[in-house]
Amino acid sequence: MLNIRDATEKDIKIIKLLEDRAFLQDAYDVEMLLTAILESEGMSVIAEYDGEPAGYSIAIGMKERKADIESICVDPGFRGKGIGMGLLTAIEQKMMERGFTESVLEVREHNRSAIALYEKAGYIHVKILHNFYEGEFEGSRDAIRMKKILR
Ligand SMILES: CC(C)(COP(=O)(O)OP(=O)(O)OC[C@H]1O[C@@H](n2cnc3c(N)ncnc32)[C@H](O)[C@@H]1OP(=O)(O)O)[C@@H](O)C(=O)NCCC(=O)NCCS
Repeated sequence: MLNIRDATEKDIKIIKLLEDRAFLQDAYDVEMLLTAILESEGMSVIAEYDGEPAGYSIAIGMKERKADIESICVDPGFRGKGIGMGLLTAIEQKMMERGFTESVLEVREHNRSAIALYEKAGYIHVKILHNFYEGEFEGSRDAIRMKKILR
């Protein structure tokens, strides 16, 4: 069974483990993750599947009532079970509770599974950000910015 709960800095070890298992490239280090959790001001969540850590997401508030999804990932062993969608819905709920009206994110242009997830959740493509990432993935460092009006 899927349970999504608030994450705090006390969960940093679990989050770092999930991060390293999910992102084979450019994984955030502990310091970056801790900073993101603190800056998220409560917009950090962990998914547990049958009691096991299965994924996490962190969002950070920005100007103009927008919030940015800094990270979202599901452990490879738990993918395809609706956990990514559950995390996305939970983090959007947090944004709305705090008065944010738009969710934005950046995703690698060749990250097909993530783009499919976001499109299914109602995100639209805004623009390409050239050389957004340091390392290449499938020959590209570009990101797509996507957004969704929250309601
Ligand atoms: C992207 C990610 C979070 C999806 O998590 P997930 O739990 O497997 O996704 P869900 O089971 O909730 O899938 C929801 C929808 O997303 C899309 N999707 C998810 N995985 C997909 C895949 N491998 N291929 C195509 N579409 C996919 C589908 O539309 C799916 O709906 P459906 O099951 O009705 O077809 C996961 O693959 C992941 O952690 N990837 C590595 C980290 C990453 O790239 N994060 C995003 C950074 S911007």
